Amino acid sequence: MSWDPQQYSRFAGHRLRPALDLIARVPLEHPRTVVDLGCGTGNVTRILRNRWAEAGITGVDGSPQMLAEARKAEGDIVWVQCELAAWNPAGKFDLVFSNAALHWLDHHAALFARICARVAAGGVLAVQMPRNFGAPSHTLMHELASSPPWRETLAPLLRPQPVLAPEAYYDLLVRRARTLDVWETEYLQILEGDNPVAEWTKGTWLAPLLAALAPDARSAFEAEYRRRVALAYPPRGDGKTLFPFRRLFIVAAL
Ligand SMILES: C[S@@+](CC[C@H](N)C(=O)[O-])C[C@H]1O[C@@H](n2cnc3c(N)ncnc32)[C@H](O)[C@@H]1O
Repeated sequence: MSWDPQQYSRFAGHRLRPALDLIARVPLEHPRTVVDLGCGTGNVTRILRNRWAEAGITGVDGSPQMLAEARKAEGDIVWVQCELAAWNPAGKFDLVFSNAALHWLDHHAALFARICARVAAGGVLAVQMPRNFGAPSHTLMHELASSPPWRETLAPLLRPQPVLAPEAYYDLLVRRARTLDVWETEYLQILEGDNPVAEWTKGTWLAPLLAALAPDARSAFEAEYRRRVALAYPPRGDGKTLFPFRRLFIVAAL
């Protein structure tokens, strides 16, 4: 998928808060090496840099567009362009961190086993992923993409819900971890502007669907999606829109 850093960054504050909540729960004072998987434009990687000033920090991402933004800022972070499904570094890391990225990959049992193998002894795996795939913002997109006239082009692009139930991550990690903390938070996001939920998904899940359509079909699909989303998330009396958003957090000390 081709990422648009500007569109993704439109809701930067709401997207940053879960990353800060995750960082606050990492039980490490002096990690020597930290890697941020799916680092995007590096907003969160730079916070990791400030939090652990003595650590060597690496940001890994598959998107040249996102990494081009990340590289604009000065600093000593090492940026690596790499498909995470093929990520196989030589060494291990004291902290393997990933915010809002691993839900883009499938086969989480194998993925988490592979990532755990890259955590040094005494190190920590810290992951946050959205688990909001049952919300209208998402189900309306699937319904529309599965119906004519878009079905033929878009149905092959639809992925089954990639993130497992919290208990499944507990079962995957409990025998490897010294301590394990798994929790969910549903943020009641208060958004501003016209149809902001549709703008939100345009920065993520909607983007590959729109990119697959010819211009006329793209406009029609987006207009119909926007219409349905506006009905599902009407503005409140003060003009703002509430977008409840559930996220899953995992902190495993290995
Ligand atoms: C939603 S952004 C999150 C960026 C950053 N972690 C943050 O919290 O702001 C997801 C990032 O994961 C990256 N990503 C998704 N799937 C990937 C894959 N299979 N391999 C490498 N990077 C991937 C995307 O390029 C994107 O930059």
